[in-house]
Amino acid sequence: MSPSTAADPSLLIFPDADKSPLSIRAKALVFIDPRTRKLREEVERLAGLPVPILIEGETGTGKELLARHIHRSSERPGLFVALSCSGLSPNHGEAELFGYTAGAHQGAPSSRAGWLGSANGGTLYLDEIADLPLALQAQLLGVLETGEAWRAGASAPTPVDVRLVAATSIDLWRAVEAGKFDERLAHYLSDGHLELPPLRERVGDVLPLAEYFLGIYTQRLRLPLPNISHAAQKVLERHDWPGNTRELENVVHFALLVCGAEQIEARHLNLPATPPLKRIEQAFEQLLEAGDANQLAALRDVLRQAERRLGG
Ligand SMILES: Nc1ncnc2c1ncn2[C@@H]1O[C@H](COP(=O)(O)OP(=O)(O)OP(=O)(O)O)[C@@H](O)[C@H]1O
Ligand SMILES: [Mg+2]
Repeated sequence: MSPSTAADPSLLIFPDADKSPLSIRAKALVFIDPRTRKLREEVERLAGLPVPILIEGETGTGKELLARHIHRSSERPGLFVALSCSGLSPNHGEAELFGYTAGAHQGAPSSRAGWLGSANGGTLYLDEIADLPLALQAQLLGVLETGEAWRAGASAPTPVDVRLVAATSIDLWRAVEAGKFDERLAHYLSDGHLELPPLRERVGDVLPLAEYFLGIYTQRLRLPLPNISHAAQKVLERHDWPGNTRELENVVHFALLVCGAEQIEARHLNLPATPPLKRIEQAFEQLLEAGDANQLAALRDVLRQAERRLGG
């Protein structure tokens, strides 16, 4: 089933979210900031096309959730199979990925389709693709280009029709330069390139996401829905979010548990105070926006004094 667009067009609802694994808790993708709205348009353009997709983004930005959305939008009939390349067994990676026939190796009494075979007709999501060993990268490219996979021990290839959605938190072209990534696979993946910006670069998503997670957790924990105080909202918007959306989700969950129902205050967020230099920058920006000439003049004086002290 494809995701439906609810009354709020920025929410993409996953109708069968209950069937998703527990690790994927979201029932919707919140895309409000202009940057993510633009991303959503690109996703809609690419999802139904027969092209592989590379999602670039820091940890916790929502790459897997986006990949699931792409799979649903593509309406491919097969399964969405998610696999982390760093989790492949060092010795049996090839068999895990491409499958094997009965008796292909010790401890293989029956044949296995492998991850690729399980995703036949559907989407294979490969997280941290740069962690795939070089030999398997070349082999994977061969399978995707020819539509045929050789299972270990097989005398004939098996046809496979898989759409690849790969994710990376590092720049693949730098990995190519360093000789760690197959250049042809990088080219193959560059047709459908999506960049999921870090949360600090799409501040417009922060409060909608916080409200969204509050909604989910209050429902699940059967708690009343608290407000987020103005000061707490500011703290959320100014935080750097190194752990991105996952970190925000955890912060909101924690705040909900400690706030005692009524209102979430800044102190409930358990986030470090904004560093002084950043506060000065923000104050300066606010003054510029407000265009208060007196205050700006005073600020300029202070800055000149500081400059003189530093010998400038
Ligand atoms: N736009 C969004 N709307 C709603 N929930 C989101 C959104 N983005 C991320 N999430 C939630 O944030 C958490 C992290 O997302 P996800 O696992 O997809 O990130 P990831 O980029 O794959 O992370 P990692 O790099 O660690 O594998 C999940 O619980 C996910 O449901
Ligand atoms: Mg992930």
